[in-house]
Amino acid sequence: MKVGVVQMRPIFGAVEENIDRAISIIGQVSSDLWVLPELFATGYQFRLAAEARSLAEPVLGGLTVSRLIEAARKFDAFICAGLPEIDRGRVYNAAVLVGPDGLVARYRKIHLFYHEKEIFSPGDLPFPVVDIGLAKVGMMICFDHFFPEAARTLAIRGAQVIAHPANLVMPIYAQLTMRVRALENGVFTATANRVGEESRTDEALHFTGESQIVSPSGEILVSLSPTEERAESVVIDPLEASNKALNAYNDRLGDRRPGFYET
Ligand code: ACM
Repeated sequence: MKVGVVQMRPIFGAVEENIDRAISIIGQVSSDLWVLPELFATGYQFRLAAEARSLAEPVLGGLTVSRLIEAARKFDAFICAGLPEIDRGRVYNAAVLVGPDGLVARYRKIHLFYHEKEIFSPGDLPFPVVDIGLAKVGMMICFDHFFPEAARTLAIRGAQVIAHPANLVMPIYAQLTMRVRALENGVFTATANRVGEESRTDEALHFTGESQIVSPSGEILVSLSPTEERAESVVIDPLEASNKALNAYNDRLGDRRPGFYET
């Protein structure tokens, strides 16, 4: 199968324009599974919780997810993307996985980063893993990369590919941690980061790009530039993520000693 990342520069608040651009970038390259950035259609730097609330959408029936499902049908692909979700009065930093038949999985960011704690409710759903026929796909969002438990939980639940929408502002960290997450769990990871700047408050944010796809042996398969809007995909064999053995004696998951670990 092919897995791809979309690196783009959303314009804050221009939801329809950002969706159109994401779909047009996807249309330039073929892939079976696309990963788009966190909050790809709204932009990131909300001034107030009320602003995020005004741009948040329900996952079922909302504009963004409906447009993503249309695109999934058009390209006969699965698409993972981030959006602000409103549900029962709460606003979450969420991600969906959609396919030609509709919504396949949803997730709400569990580890909120920095001012996100003033904007969003923390995620309250389990880390999801779904079988899309071609591979078992797990989802986590951006700062979840700092917590090895997130990727480990997805791996234990059977993920072969971790889809990782991101809006990274700290250089290098996630490119490094996601190589380790891939290697230590024996999974493919696909981090779709955004590029550009937002300075809607007195703090300028610079988004670092360098979206990447990593193999279960920690090899970087795709690495995009720090600034360019671009989609790139690569052929992978998800079965490579099924064998967790390092040698005849050691197994990444089987050798764990949970009785000795703190939770
Ligand atoms: C982040 O979690 N957007 C850094």
